[in-house]
Amino acid sequence: MRLQDKVAVVSGAASGLGKAVAMAYAHEGAKVFLADINEEGLQGTLGAIGRDGGRAKALKVDTSDPDQVAQMIAAALEAFGRIDIQANIAGVLVRKSLLEHSVDDWKRVIDINLSGVFYCIKAVAPTMIEQKYGKIINMGSIAGMVGYAYPSYSASKAGVVNLTRELSMELAPHNININAICPGVIKTPMIRPELEKEYVSKTPQGRLGEPGDVAAAAVYLATEEASFINGTTLVIDGGAISSFRYF
Ligand SMILES: NC(=O)c1ccc[n+]([C@@H]2O[C@H](COP(=O)([O-])OP(=O)(O)OC[C@H]3O[C@@H](n4cnc5c(N)ncnc54)[C@H](O)[C@@H]3O)[C@@H](O)[C@H]2O)c1
Repeated sequence: MRLQDKVAVVSGAASGLGKAVAMAYAHEGAKVFLADINEEGLQGTLGAIGRDGGRAKALKVDTSDPDQVAQMIAAALEAFGRIDIQANIAGVLVRKSLLEHSVDDWKRVIDINLSGVFYCIKAVAPTMIEQKYGKIINMGSIAGMVGYAYPSYSASKAGVVNLTRELSMELAPHNININAICPGVIKTPMIRPELEKEYVSKTPQGRLGEPGDVAAAAVYLATEEASFINGTTLVIDGGAISSFRYF
C-alpha cells in the first residue's frame, strides 16, 4: 500500500473526481476525511470506502466559507490526529457566455473554485508546517491553461494553477509539496453526455478520461515517489491541448 496510515482530507468527495480520489487514497491505506456540500453523496462515498475495507469519516462542508473550512480541518485533526495530504477538488461550472454571466454567477464560481482552494490551504498550512510534512493537490483544468470553457470557470482554474506555483515558494522549504492537476474532459456528472462525441473527436487518444485516470495521478503526487515535484501542473487530457491542428 502506497499511502499506509497517511491521513488525507479530500474536498468534493461526494461525486466524480473527488470521490474517485478519496476511494483511491483509502484503497492505498490512507485514512480519509471526506468533505462536500452534498451530504447524501458523502454517505455514498463513505459506504463505498467501507465496502472496500477502507477507513473514512465525512463532514458536510461548504468550502467557499472560510469558517466551515477551519471547522473541517479541526474535525479532521480531531478524528485522525494529523493531516498528511489535502486534495482540493470541490468545484462548479457555470455554462454561460460573458453576456449571460451574472455578477452572482461570477462570484459563486470564483468563491468555490479559487477562494475555496485558498481557504483550504490556508487552514491546513500551520499543521503541515509544524509536521514538516505535507502533500497538497489542487484541481485545476486545461480550461485554466487555454481558452476552452466559460469565463468564470477558466479564470478560476487559471487562478488555481498560479496559486499553486506561488504557494510552492512559501511551502516547499517546509517539506510540503503542492501541485495542480489539470484534467481534460473526464466522465463525471459535470460533463454533458450529449457533447461526449465532440469531445472524443478532439482528443488524440480517441476517448474521454475516466475518474481513475485522475485518481492515479493524485495518488502518485501524494507519495514519496513525487517528492521532488513542486509547484507544477500535471495535464491529464489524452493529448487534447497539445493537438491544435488546422488540417
Ligand atoms: N470532469 C471534468 O471533465 C473535469 C475537468 C477538469 C477539471 N475538473 C474539476 O474537477 C473537480 C471535480 O469535478 P467533477 O468533474 O468530479 O464534478 P462533480 O460535479 O461530479 O463533483 C464536484 C463536487 O464538488 C462539490 N461541491 C460543489 N460546490 C461545493 C462547495 N461549495 N463546497 C463543497 N463541495 C462542493 C459537489 O457537491 C460535487 O460533489 C472540479 O474542481 C472540476 O472543476 C473536472
